[in-house]
Amino acid sequence: MRIAITLAGILLLAAAAIGVYCAADIRRLWSEDPSGQLVQTPEQKEAEARKTLAFASLVERLPKGKPNSPKKGLDAESKKRWGILDGNLAAYQAQRAELLKALHEKTRKFFVESPGAGPQRPIWPVPDELLLDTVYKNGDPRHPGEPADFPYSPGENLSRVKPDDEFYFYHDIGLSDFLYPFGFGYIKDREHVAGFKSHGFRHLGVPVHESKRWRINHIQLVGILSHEQPVVYLTDKLPSMEQVRQGKTRALDFFEEAALPSLRDGEDLYIVSKDNTIRMLGALRATKTCQKCHDAEIGDLLGAFSYTLRPAPKEKQE
Ligand code: HEC
Repeated sequence: MRIAITLAGILLLAAAAIGVYCAADIRRLWSEDPSGQLVQTPEQKEAEARKTLAFASLVERLPKGKPNSPKKGLDAESKKRWGILDGNLAAYQAQRAELLKALHEKTRKFFVESPGAGPQRPIWPVPDELLLDTVYKNGDPRHPGEPADFPYSPGENLSRVKPDDEFYFYHDIGLSDFLYPFGFGYIKDREHVAGFKSHGFRHLGVPVHESKRWRINHIQLVGILSHEQPVVYLTDKLPSMEQVRQGKTRALDFFEEAALPSLRDGEDLYIVSKDNTIRMLGALRATKTCQKCHDAEIGDLLGAFSYTLRPAPKEKQE
């Protein structure tokens, strides 16, 4: 009797051991998500990422229109500002391009939790999210406010405002957020770009600080490369090329008509104000990084942003 019980015990233990062994074996191929469901292995995820982020040609997608070289050239301050912006764009692009290169050349493992790493160091952006372009989970941000409704006529008397650091600062934010250099991808040449994501706001990174007099309320993209005449792309949310593809446009209004020639000449910002509301047209110019895709000289006008700004609320600064 005792022998029988011992034997049953041994058998039970053996069965349990086999069970644990098998479960561990399965886990080597599959992992569990927090709800206990089996999910893809890192290798499967990587193979899928190589497919979705494959090399593709951008040649057919690039706007065909001829960019506009500034008639009066750019002054030294302007050249400096575009140079700094380009340095930042190139640095952000490189971060994701390196991951894409490693993914395709299989020189780095993705989607693997590093075992025994202890408390996770907060790295931003997380490499896997950066690679897959899921860094900004709430994409397609809305316009913070309404567009200005002036001028009503071409001759309307508006006061010109001289651009200062705050206006350049806001335009700089608009440019970096829209161009979204993470999305440029890994560019071998125009025919071979891995992981390209179209320009478009994923967020509007305006830090709120009490020293700021103005807030961006509304931004529209003025297209000068894709149509016979310049147009304003109408987008429900902050401009993105994805929404631009829906094809809703309007002609330039009186302000934009008056301002665009200055940008064509070589100014970067043209600003007017009325009733405590600012309208600002800001140049999107080609820098060195843009030349990897766009056929343009450095300084050429590729587009513009038409902004509405209103005074920053004085009380209750967030
Ligand atoms: C990796 C390639 C790539 C780089 C780098 C790039 N672009 Fe683009 N850009 C595109 C593509 C492709 C389009 C067409 C829209 C689409 O398919 O997403 C486009 C469209 C645009 C448009 C809209 C044109 C219109 O009127 O429809 C503007 C403006 C623009 N780019 C500006 C820039 C500027 C400025 C830079 C550099 C600071 C830049 N781009 C860098 C690929 C690129």
